[in-house]
Amino acid sequence: MSGGRRDRTALGARAQEMIDALAAISAEEGRVTRLYLTPEHRRAADLVGTWMRDAGLSVRMDNAGTMRGSRPAGRPGRSANKALLIGSHIDTVVDAGRYDGNLGVVAGLLALEELAARGVALPFGVDLLAFGDEEGVRFPVTLTSSSVAAGIFDPKTLDATDADGVTLRDALIAFGCDPARLKDDAYVRPGVLGYLEVHIEQGPVLEREKLPLASVSAIAGQSRHVVRIRGEAGHAGTVPMALRHDALAAAAELVLAAEAIARRDRRNALVATVGQIEVRPGAPNVIAAEARFSLDIRAANDEARRAAFQEFRLAARRADTTRHVVVGVETVMEKPVALCAPTLQKTIGSAIGRVTGKAAPNLMSGAGHDGQAMSQLTDFGMIFVRCRAGISHNPREFVTIDDMGAAVEALVATIEDMAAQESR
Ligand code: GLV
Ligand code: MN
Ligand code: MN
Repeated sequence: MSGGRRDRTALGARAQEMIDALAAISAEEGRVTRLYLTPEHRRAADLVGTWMRDAGLSVRMDNAGTMRGSRPAGRPGRSANKALLIGSHIDTVVDAGRYDGNLGVVAGLLALEELAARGVALPFGVDLLAFGDEEGVRFPVTLTSSSVAAGIFDPKTLDATDADGVTLRDALIAFGCDPARLKDDAYVRPGVLGYLEVHIEQGPVLEREKLPLASVSAIAGQSRHVVRIRGEAGHAGTVPMALRHDALAAAAELVLAAEAIARRDRRNALVATVGQIEVRPGAPNVIAAEARFSLDIRAANDEARRAAFQEFRLAARRADTTRHVVVGVETVMEKPVALCAPTLQKTIGSAIGRVTGKAAPNLMSGAGHDGQAMSQLTDFGMIFVRCRAGISHNPREFVTIDDMGAAVEALVATIEDMAAQESR
């Protein structure tokens, strides 16, 4: 059990210790890489499960690999059979920072410990959720575990494969999960009070404003696509330039087309990213026969994002003819803009104001979060925490102990306010 009350510095210092312990669990020496349903994910989930048990929660892993730690309501009332969900993710990108996702799980746990240490008896239950797939790095889908919890998981996704051809279905089975029972792990709306998440901002606004915390207003809409280009292998020395079917040159043209399309629309915070590309056969003296790349498009406005994708498709069709290749574009994921519930935004904003003594800004998130899936189930609210220079998805990601302590205190204050609202 956690022991007594902690002040902000002690909360932040404990958060750092736990984050460092999680960061030591990695597929790669000296770097943090922890993909969904891997042995590293398992070890991190087990560590989180141990911490949950030590905090007095009852713990189980669901069929999507999410660690769930539950505490029943501490007193009777109209919401005693409901649960407030608090969560974030413990998977990471390749060569990641330490705080993305992990801070949210640790902050949730420390907030529950702190509430217990203060003797607060909540009028609702709490489930702390450590999701395993927010990043969508291993499989070409994202938010698998939160989609299962939210009851919006599409079973067709089970056929998605990783780079080694392993299906999501087989990876779940190897992890000890039962894919046939995923729907049993969906929460039902009347049993849920809301979803809260603490997450690093992953952008530079809070640092620029000299503020530690913000309340999130919405999460940008996002789609992910796989673009496959079929050309023809040929001899690099003998095939004249005009007669080539060069899949890689066509891919290069389309990568730049995606960039140009996104650059034209600043109003809707449109961004397009190609972060993965594979070329076959992949030799210096062979014209590329095949290229395959990922395309991630996000915007504050779903119509603008869809229009950008249509423009990209037109560019792909043009490349078909001008470059004498065959281009296929597949959409593997699409999530609309997710709005944080106005009441939770307000509750979080006022909790941040009390904890920091400064008005909390409302920030839009360009990054994806488990809250996008959870928004389909229930009201959701998020606390953003300042990170140095806005750097994320990078080992240089950094958050101060004081800011982490303030984030835990703001989460505690939010939960206390929700408890007061439920008791009215
Ligand atoms: C996750 O960090 C994402 O926004 O892709
Ligand atoms: Mn994240
Ligand atoms: Mn991330």
